[in-house]
Amino acid sequence: MKAVVITSFGAPEVLKIEDRPIPQISNNNQVLIRVKAAGVNRPDVFQRKGNYPAPEGVQADIPGLEVAGVVEELGEGVTQWKIGDKVCALVAGAGYAEYVAVDAGHCLPVPENFTFIEAASLPETIFTVWHNVFQRGMLKKDEHFLVHGGSSGIGITAIQLARAMGAKVFATAGSDDKCKACIDLGALYCINYRNHDFEKELKGSGIDVILDMIGGAYFNKNIEIMNPEARMVYINSMAGNTVELNIMKMMQKRITITGSTLRGRDTEFKSALAQDILKNIWPLINSGSFKPIIYAVFPISAAAAAHQLMEEGSHIGKIVLEL
Ligand SMILES: NC(=O)c1ccc[n+]([C@@H]2O[C@H](COP(=O)([O-])OP(=O)(O)OC[C@H]3O[C@@H](n4cnc5c(N)ncnc54)[C@H](OP(=O)(O)O)[C@@H]3O)[C@@H](O)[C@H]2O)c1
Repeated sequence: MKAVVITSFGAPEVLKIEDRPIPQISNNNQVLIRVKAAGVNRPDVFQRKGNYPAPEGVQADIPGLEVAGVVEELGEGVTQWKIGDKVCALVAGAGYAEYVAVDAGHCLPVPENFTFIEAASLPETIFTVWHNVFQRGMLKKDEHFLVHGGSSGIGITAIQLARAMGAKVFATAGSDDKCKACIDLGALYCINYRNHDFEKELKGSGIDVILDMIGGAYFNKNIEIMNPEARMVYINSMAGNTVELNIMKMMQKRITITGSTLRGRDTEFKSALAQDILKNIWPLINSGSFKPIIYAVFPISAAAAAHQLMEEGSHIGKIVLEL
């Protein structure tokens, strides 16, 4: 099969198409998917650069955390899928390939009226946002939610899901066009962080939950705009992972600081998350309340160009590879 391989750590050009054996189902609970489309995520860029190794047991030199395609083979213990089913799936790596073997519990049906490209844009961001914003952050109806990087793949998902759940949504993004996109998706207010200070702009807004991928100097600014009992949830720290905490402020506001990484979590956790998402989010998607935002589609042979585009940072929404 054709696969995109990280031939050495470095610039996008290290991504090359190679011929690799079709993966084998490694246990009775897996399915083999014939991949039609694979989502591109920022962690794939970190992996290509050598800063985000694949977990144990995962093909280390083929990136890709989410796919959509057709079930082509079933493990003996798989009862929920049949050959020919259209699925999208969360994978811990090796998604940029014609075939991928994945735990049956990490697959979800391709939503009604979605193309494979649209379906491939869903799993990584929806699993991440559902767990971090709603399970860890416990965002509730009418609460105030801030997502940094609102036009990112994660951001466009967080804005839409938080809005659909009845929260009031605020965002930051790096241009006026990106801010407009966030507002079009349901944010009440979006701050262009390149020419405005979000702490000043949101003073008095009383934020209850923040999804932060920036870290660094944003940490204390976040604390300043949070309500008592607020929750700050980290999914990355792109501007620095060491911060100074004023413990007294945290105590006075009774703030919870948490965060998580999805990729290394065990099979059972991801399967339970998938069931929760099927119950809570899939009906929203099937009813049309959630739009996939596809910024660009590349053939698998142009994976390097897809990474280049992501690193340039002009994208709004998702970049997807087509097979
Ligand atoms: N923990 C987990 O399980 C998990 C899972 C998936 C993703 N992630 C993380 O989530 C983040 C987003 O991933 P993605 O795939 O959606 O990538 P992406 O689309 O490339 O998003 C990165 C975003 O960060 C924004 N950004 C950079 N500096 C900023 C700043 N100072 N203030 C506000 N926004 C800023 C960029 O906006 P501008 O271009 O406008 O600057 C861009 O929209 C990544 O850091 C990724 O590692 C974590």
